[in-house]
Amino acid sequence: MRCSVIGATGYSGAELARILLGHPYVSVKSLTTRQNNPESIRNYIPAIPKSSGARLEPFNFNRVSENSDVVFLALPHTAAAKLAGKFLRKGKLVIDISADFRLKHAADYKKWYGFKHPAPRLLKGAVYGLPEVYRDKIQNAKLIANPGCYPTGCLLALKPLIAEKLIDFSNIVVDAKSGASGAGRKLSEATQFCEVDENFGAYKVNRHQHTPEMEQELRHIARSAVKITFVPHLLPVLRGILTTVYAFKKKKVSKAQIFSSFHKAYGREPFVRVLEESSFPTLRHVQGTNFCDIGVEVDSATGRVIVISAIDNLIKGASGQAVQNMNICLGFPEDAGLTICP
Ligand SMILES: NC(=O)c1ccc[n+]([C@@H]2O[C@H](COP(=O)([O-])OP(=O)(O)OC[C@H]3O[C@@H](n4cnc5c(N)ncnc54)[C@H](OP(=O)(O)O)[C@@H]3O)[C@@H](O)[C@H]2O)c1
Repeated sequence: MRCSVIGATGYSGAELARILLGHPYVSVKSLTTRQNNPESIRNYIPAIPKSSGARLEPFNFNRVSENSDVVFLALPHTAAAKLAGKFLRKGKLVIDISADFRLKHAADYKKWYGFKHPAPRLLKGAVYGLPEVYRDKIQNAKLIANPGCYPTGCLLALKPLIAEKLIDFSNIVVDAKSGASGAGRKLSEATQFCEVDENFGAYKVNRHQHTPEMEQELRHIARSAVKITFVPHLLPVLRGILTTVYAFKKKKVSKAQIFSSFHKAYGREPFVRVLEESSFPTLRHVQGTNFCDIGVEVDSATGRVIVISAIDNLIKGASGQAVQNMNICLGFPEDAGLTICP
C-alpha cells in the first residue's frame, strides 16, 4: 500500500511520517509541505536513517492522488476539510488527524471552532477512529476521523464505567494536563519557552473545543446523555497527556465490579494497559509509544471513582492511532509499525 502525509512538517505529521517509514507493509510516497523549496526532512525527523530516500515536497494534489492509496491529513482544522472530499472522490482512504470530521453536527463547528464547515455532507459518513470503540466500523471506513488527543485519554478512562453504567453520568470531572506539543509547531505566545517553562496552569476552563467531542462519544457509549466538566492544563513538558477523571459510582456498585470492568474492556486490547491496583500511570511510561496506561482507584468513603490515564499526545493521541486505524482498515496486524516507537 502506498501512503502519503499532507502536513509532514507539523509535530503530528512528522511523527506519522517517522512511523510510516518504519512500517513493514506500506511504502511512503509523498511527505508534503507548503514550502516551495522544502527544507531537509532531517530538520523534522532527526532520527531518519542516512540511507532513507525520503524527502519533503511541495503539496501537489494530482501527484499525491496518482501515487497514493492512503492519504493522511495532518493539517490545521478547515484545511483538512477542504481537501478530504477531493481525495475521497479519487477513491483514496483518507485518515484525518484534525478535528474536521469528528463532530457529527456541522453547527457544533460554528459553536466550538468558530467556522462554517466547508464539507458538512461528509460528516455523516466519517468513522470516529477510536479502535477500542469503533473497530468494526473502522474496518470498512473510507474517511476516518482520528480522535483528538484529550478525547483519547478521557474516553479510554471512562469507557468501561460508562458502557457498564457503573457511575452517575451527570457528575463527571475530567482534569487533564498536556505537554506543549499538543498545540502544534505553529508560533503562539502561550506555548513559547518562557511562558511554559517552570510554569503550570489551566486554560479554556469549561470551554475547550474538545468538550463536545468527548460528550458526543460518551453519549454513543452510554446510549444516553453524559455531561462532563473538562479542565485542560498546560504542562511544562514536550509531550504526553495525563488525565484524571473523577466520577461517583452508583450505590450498589462494588470496587471489584469497577476493576473488573476495566479488565473486561481492555484485556485483549493491544494498546491499552490497565495497571495493577494501587499503580498509576506516568507520562514517562507512554512517551514515544502508542500505549494508553490506566490506573484505577475507588474512594469507599465518598463513593468516588478516580481513573488516571496517560498517553503520548503525538502518538496514541494522533499519529500512532492514525496508523492503528490504517492497519485495521487495511487488514494488517493492528500493531504493525507500532510495536517499537524509538
Ligand atoms: N499536536 C497534537 O498533539 C495533536 C494531537 C491530535 C490531533 N492534532 C491535530 O492534528 C493537526 C496537526 O496538528 P499539529 O500539532 O501537527 O500541527 P502543526 O505542528 O502546527 O503542523 C501543521 C502542519 O500543517 C501545515 N499547514 C499549516 N497551515 C496550513 C494550511 N493552511 N494549509 C495547508 N497546510 C498547512 C504545516 O506545514 P507547512 O507550514 O510546512 O506547510 C504543518 O505541516 C491539527 O488539526 C491538530 O488539531 C494534533
